[in-house]
Amino acid sequence: MEMKQTEDSLTTSFSEISQKISQLEARFTGPLNPAAIQMQESNKYIQPVMEKTPEPTPDRRKNSRGEDYSSKLSDPGSNSVPSKKQKYSPVQKTKSFTPRPESFDSVRPFSESPHSGSYSDSKYITINKELLEKLANSESLCAEKQALITQTEAKLTDISQELEKKNKVIEMNLEEIESLQELAKKNKKALIKTFRMLEEKMRQELKSRLFNDSFRLGRVTMVRSGTRFQEYWEDGQEITQSKSQLESIIKQKEQLEKQKKKLKKANDEELSSTLPLRLALLMREEIELKDKLDKLEIEKNIHIQDCRRMAEEDSAKYSKSTTEHEAWPVLHGRYLLLSLLGKGGYSEVYRAYDLFEHIDLAIKFHELNPSWAEVIKANYIKHALRENKIHRELNHPRIVKHYDTLEVDNNCFCTVLEFCPGEDLNMYMKKHKIVNEKEARNIMQQIFAGLKYLNEQPEKVIHYDLKPHNILLNNGEVKITDFGLSKIMDPGNTNLELTSQGVGTYWYQAPECFETGSSPPKINSKVDVWSAGVIFFELLYGQKPFGNNMPQEKVLKDQVIVRATSVSFPSKPNVSSECKEFIRKCLEYNVEERWDVVEVFNSSYLQGKR
Ligand SMILES: Nc1ncnc2c1ncn2[C@@H]1O[C@H](COP(=O)(O)OP(=O)(O)O)[C@@H](O)[C@H]1O
Ligand SMILES: [Mg+2]
Repeated sequence: MEMKQTEDSLTTSFSEISQKISQLEARFTGPLNPAAIQMQESNKYIQPVMEKTPEPTPDRRKNSRGEDYSSKLSDPGSNSVPSKKQKYSPVQKTKSFTPRPESFDSVRPFSESPHSGSYSDSKYITINKELLEKLANSESLCAEKQALITQTEAKLTDISQELEKKNKVIEMNLEEIESLQELAKKNKKALIKTFRMLEEKMRQELKSRLFNDSFRLGRVTMVRSGTRFQEYWEDGQEITQSKSQLESIIKQKEQLEKQKKKLKKANDEELSSTLPLRLALLMREEIELKDKLDKLEIEKNIHIQDCRRMAEEDSAKYSKSTTEHEAWPVLHGRYLLLSLLGKGGYSEVYRAYDLFEHIDLAIKFHELNPSWAEVIKANYIKHALRENKIHRELNHPRIVKHYDTLEVDNNCFCTVLEFCPGEDLNMYMKKHKIVNEKEARNIMQQIFAGLKYLNEQPEKVIHYDLKPHNILLNNGEVKITDFGLSKIMDPGNTNLELTSQGVGTYWYQAPECFETGSSPPKINSKVDVWSAGVIFFELLYGQKPFGNNMPQEKVLKDQVIVRATSVSFPSKPNVSSECKEFIRKCLEYNVEERWDVVEVFNSSYLQGKR
């Protein structure tokens, strides 16, 4: 009776367990993956118990009725007890535990059948308890996991909502960016248009001013002499008038001087009392007129420069539209060309506006002319590439900065340079005629600071084309530019063979550059010292020390520089003897005795110690 009760209670417990497991399994086999994970978690707890379940020994395999239990176990037709292998093989359990209801059904016959010997009721109860405990654990774990899943699902919903919102914001931002880009395009176009209009307006104003000034100051005309056309200057009204006024004053003055002499003899009291005053008035007028003519001369020089630049600009490549480009084009979608700054034999330099950085720049174009002879082309390419290579490596406040090199087409490339808004020293001298010693010395200090830097490079750089045109001046700041003829010296070498003779501007070139002989002349950076000496002289006296007022060809033909063995100084303006000594050192004919760049830079005159 007692046994029967125990059996009943076990049966109930197992069927309860079986039910719960079925419920659990129903949950596990639900749509969410995490449930599967939970199931594995449950296995973790259940499995060891199953593994521990002792396997009945053969002699124990008899039920209470004395029937052989093992035969029942092995009987596949039996509906009460499944085969041992099927249900309790530890190997099978370890591999994978599948908590199906049948597997737990299989426990029932155990409970139903009277225990055969070793499995006592209490053991079953213990197992049952343990299983229930594990089941409870699994259930609570499952609940926890379920809660976690619910939480995660809620979070996911939140996140996806958030994402949706963010996507909307991104979409809006993209739309805004697109419209801003559209606006930027429009603004860029408007900016380009405004710049072009402004420049055109300034050009027209300058042209009409130059036109009016040409009546007042004069103009350059082309006069034919033989087969060649030569530039000829024709004075304008104001200059002609002032000159004739000056002439008449000088004549009047001469007449009065004569009268004065006669009066002394005739003893004419009245005339002799008025004559001195008349003479003094004429002299004052003469001074004023000379002063006026000096100013007109400066105006004339600036006028000539502006007219030349205007004419060069009108014929410059990018000032007119062609099939390849519009007038004043934008290069590389970025650099808007605005005006021509200067034109050399082989290059054009433009002022440009950087539409990215919004700054002014100078852009120098190096263009091969297809009509040139092959030798000239090859030479040009060599110089242009060398200029670019040398200049782009330099970085010093006294040297115009080289920002970039751009390819334009097969025959042309350009260099993007720092823009110096002032003027070159040539124009500065045209405006001021002469510069006082203090100012000129400061300009020299800055030039030599730049030259010293060039000399300190691992491969020394010789500029070779130092002249007022290549020195830019802005607001007291001096910068060296144009490395078109520059040379680099091999480290360790003190001299360099000059292979490109005859190029450059002769008034500024050192005597050794003109040497002729069986082998090319040897030069070093002292050629720059000579050129700087010539510039210093010109700044102080308003004239060149050698070949002043002489055309270039004549300087070469007459061997002016080759004969420039000593320099002589005009009496006016007054210049200190230290300054003259300094210039003598720079213009020392003998290269050995001429100061080198560092000596000049460190000289007490330039350093201001004297
Ligand atoms: N960076 C610059 N900023 C302002 N003006 C410049 C600049 N570079 C050149 N220029 C002007 O253009 C002229 C010609 O430039 P340069 O480089 O000397 O060309 P080239 O090799 O044809 O002589 C200069 O004399 C100067 O007036
Ligand atoms: Mg130049």
